[in-house]
Amino acid sequence: MVPARGAVRIWGGAMRILFVATEAYPLIKTGGLADVTGALSAALAEGGEAIRLLLPAYGPAIAGLRHRHLGASMGTVLGWSVRLIEGYMPDSGIPVTLVDCPPLFDRPGNPYSRNDGHDWPDNHERFAVLSRVAATLAVGEEGAGPVDIVHAHDWQTGLVCAYLWQHRRHHGREGTPASVFTVHNLAFQGRFSPHVMERIGLPVDMFSVNGVEFHGDVSYLKAGLYYSDKITTVSPTYAHEIQTDQGGEGLQGLLLARANDLAGILNGEDDRLWNPADDPAIHYPFTARHLSGKALDKADLQRELGLEVKADAPLFAVISRLTEQKGVDLVLKAISDIMEKGGQLVILGAGDSRFETACRMAAKTCPGWVAVRIGLDEALAHRIQAGSDALLMPSRFEPCGLSQMYAMRYGTLPVVRHTGGLADTVVDVDDSDGGTGFVFDTATLPAFLAAVHRVFDLYRNRAVWQSIQGHAMGQDFSWRRSAERYRRLYRELIHQ
Ligand code: ADP
Ligand code: GLC
Repeated sequence: MVPARGAVRIWGGAMRILFVATEAYPLIKTGGLADVTGALSAALAEGGEAIRLLLPAYGPAIAGLRHRHLGASMGTVLGWSVRLIEGYMPDSGIPVTLVDCPPLFDRPGNPYSRNDGHDWPDNHERFAVLSRVAATLAVGEEGAGPVDIVHAHDWQTGLVCAYLWQHRRHHGREGTPASVFTVHNLAFQGRFSPHVMERIGLPVDMFSVNGVEFHGDVSYLKAGLYYSDKITTVSPTYAHEIQTDQGGEGLQGLLLARANDLAGILNGEDDRLWNPADDPAIHYPFTARHLSGKALDKADLQRELGLEVKADAPLFAVISRLTEQKGVDLVLKAISDIMEKGGQLVILGAGDSRFETACRMAAKTCPGWVAVRIGLDEALAHRIQAGSDALLMPSRFEPCGLSQMYAMRYGTLPVVRHTGGLADTVVDVDDSDGGTGFVFDTATLPAFLAAVHRVFDLYRNRAVWQSIQGHAMGQDFSWRRSAERYRRLYRELIHQ
C-alpha cells in the first residue's frame, strides 16, 4: 500500500523543501528577490525545515559557495550537458545546488541581460534548463528521493510547475511533490515565441489558454500561475491588486479563478543584515534610543558623496532599480523643488539608460546638492540608509518593496505611494499617532511634491521627527511571522 502523502516524507517534523530561484543573497543579487530567497530560506531552516536552494551556476555564485564540491552529472538536459555543483550558503549554511552549464550561465553581464541592457536571446533555454533540472531533482530521479515541496520564484522558474504537472499526469500524485509559485513581480512575464515549445520539452496540448499560452506566446510566468498548487505573492495588498483590471497585467482572469489558491504573504527584512546597531558598512552604530551615531553617519555620507556637509539640510535618498515602475521620473522632476527648499538628494541605482543619463545630468547640474552613483553597491546602500533622513519610493506599483522597510529600521522616513507592499508597511504620520512615514495616493508630481513638502515641514520640528523615527525603528518586519505562514501553507499542501 502506498502511504498517504506526507506520512512518510515528513520525517522528524522537517519538511523537505526545494527553493528554485535565479538569485539569492549573498551569492547573486540584482534586487529584492535575492534578499527574500536568502532570508526566507534561512528563516525556514531556523524553524527546523530541511531546505535546499537550487540556483544557476553563475560565476559569482560558484565563487561565493562555501565547501564547494562537484556533484552529480545530470547528463543531457534539453540538449545541454549539465553537472551539479554542491556547497553551502556562506552565511546561513543552507545547502545549495548550482546548475552548472557554462555555455548558458557562465557569462559577463547580469543574470538576465547583457551589459548593454538587452535580455540574453536564449533566456527561454537558460531558464527551461534550470527548471527541468529542478523538477528532475524534486521527483527524486537522481537518487535522493522526492522532496515534499518545490517552491519556485518568479517567471524564470515557472516551468518547474509545468514539468511537475506533466510528471503527475504520467506518474500520479504520489511521488510528485506539491508546488508553490511566488510572484515577486507580475510585470515580468517571460514571454517567448510558441516555437520554443518543442525545445523546452512541453507537449503541444499544453500550449493552450488552459496552459502556458498567453496572447499567442508562451509565458513562463503563466506556467507558474496555471500549474502550481498554490500561488503566493509578496504582500496582501498586491495579492488583491493583481486580481483587478488595473493591476493584473492581463492575468487577472486566471488569478481570480485561482483566488482560493492565492495568498499575499508580506516579505520580511533580514535583521542579521539590516541592523543599524551592528552594521559593518557604517562607522557609527545607532539605535532608536541613541540616535547620535546617525548624525555622524550623515556627515560621513555627505563627505563621501561630495555633498556639502550640512547637518540641517534634509537628505533625501533613492536606492533603486531605475525604471518606470519605481517612479524615477517623478523624483527627477522633484529635484528643483527639493533644492529650492534646501534639501539634498542622493540616488544610487541602475536600470534604464535614459534614467541613468538623466540622473547623471542632475548630479552635474547641482554639484554639492545632488549626488548620483550608477551601479550596484551593497555597502553604499547601507551607508545611504544610515546617513539619510528620508527615502523616496514613489512607485507606480510595488509588489512588496524592501528598501522602505530597511529605511524605517535605520530611522530614515519613507515617502511612498499607497500601493502594494508600500501600503501594507508604511503608516502616514497624519493618519496615526504611531505614523512611520509619508504616504501619497496618485502617481502624479503634485501629489508626490505635497508629500515631499510635508517632510520639510516636519523635519524642522526635531522632537516630533525623532519620535516618528522611534516608531519607524520599532516596527517588527522580521521574517519569523511570514516564514510561519509559508510553513502552514506547505503543510496544508502536504496533507491535502
Ligand atoms: P526591487 O526588488 O523591486 O528592486 P526591493 O525594494 O524589494 O525592490 O529591493 C531592492 C533591493 O535591492 C534592496 O536590498 C536594495 O537595497 C537593493 N538595491 C537596489 N538598488 C541598489 C543599488 N544600486 N545598489 C545596491 N543595492 C541596491
Ligand atoms: C520584486 C518587487 C519588489 C519585492 C521583491 C521581493 O523585485 O519589485 O516589490 O519586494 O520582488 O519580493
